[in-house]
Amino acid sequence: MDVFGKGGGGLGGLPSDAELEAAVRRMLDAHWVAEGYAAPHQTVYPWQWLWDSCFHVLVWLELGEVERAQRELSVAFGPQAASGFVPHMNYVRDPGFHEDLWGRRDGSSITQPPMYGHAVAELVRAGHRPADEVLAAATAGLRFLLDRRRHPSGLVRVCHPWETGADDSPRWDDHCPGGFDRDRWRATKDRLASMVETGPDADALANPGFDVAPAGFNALVAFNARELAGVTGDDRLAVDADVLAGHLADRWDPALGTWTDVGPTADGSGRVRTADALLGLLVDDGPGRAARVVDQLLDPSAHGGPVGPTGVHRAEPSFDPGAYWRGPVWPQLAYLLVRAVAGHSPTAAATLARSTVAGAWASGLAEYWDPDTGAGLGAIPQSWTGLALVLSRRWAGTRPPEERG
Ligand code: GLC
Repeated sequence: MDVFGKGGGGLGGLPSDAELEAAVRRMLDAHWVAEGYAAPHQTVYPWQWLWDSCFHVLVWLELGEVERAQRELSVAFGPQAASGFVPHMNYVRDPGFHEDLWGRRDGSSITQPPMYGHAVAELVRAGHRPADEVLAAATAGLRFLLDRRRHPSGLVRVCHPWETGADDSPRWDDHCPGGFDRDRWRATKDRLASMVETGPDADALANPGFDVAPAGFNALVAFNARELAGVTGDDRLAVDADVLAGHLADRWDPALGTWTDVGPTADGSGRVRTADALLGLLVDDGPGRAARVVDQLLDPSAHGGPVGPTGVHRAEPSFDPGAYWRGPVWPQLAYLLVRAVAGHSPTAAATLARSTVAGAWASGLAEYWDPDTGAGLGAIPQSWTGLALVLSRRWAGTRPPEERG
């Protein structure tokens, strides 16, 4: 599918609001699945992915499609377990699919960043409070992570690299025998999937082969818990979010300028400077940290670039601008970083938003793209790259003045 209609795109400019909206709408309409969600991509990613769908909620809202926003969020909780655990994949289209792999029908037995707290808060801020069942499901999902996934450090553990959404991040390299290699890592991820220890509902609880509490994932748990508690007035959730944010704040490394992971990789690959680790800024504004993060995101020898922030710091030996999770720009991370930065430096947020929109457009709304050329990588087009419309309107200043609220 060509989101531009008659060709177009290419590095060199920002789309008009009308052009971008039309391309995003065409893509999301084409990706809509009758069961009630937008597939990330029609053929590469036909199932429902948890954090993707939470980002789609924001895009549907921007398109004025409130019913679809509400429906997609509630469908994501369809395979939720009694424990509160929310699968990272929902097979509602074909519930028996991959039952052999996960040991349960209709969903996977691992999760993903709980972006539903933010999705709920954005719906409420737009004047569209979700149904009580959705608020209860979101609360149970966060409680599962906070209560059942607690690492001795006080942070929350993940059970598999896939749970972070950042599958091949160099943060996991110490877990790849002999150092990172694409094929070896693929085999390792499969092996680690077979080692996940699950509870009675096939809900992942631990993994002896991968006991990591990543900075980026924890930032998103704390952020989403705060967002949800702000809507529901759940004091316990708010306190837990603050405590978690405090534990994360202890992981700031002033020499590196990033938040570091806890677990077996703490002194090794868990310190590699990645964009997702900088999401700590969403919940930790310790003195000097925002300025340090902003500097890196804009500095062309760090994460800066003409088409959005690089996924890995350019000075890291693992930085590879064309490799999955090892250098390219990821739009959902760029969106979150813009949000994190906006409270500290609106100018920096605007610069990041504009460069990311330029990249999204040049790439044909790709899943991720080359940080220097904007060449599209992965699945093209990809639904979450509709976030470019949100970035464009809220932070990049491209909306016609007469339409600004
Ligand atoms: C890839 C990404 C993951 C995403 C999924 C669907 O697996 O690594 O973060 O959720 O694709 O888009």
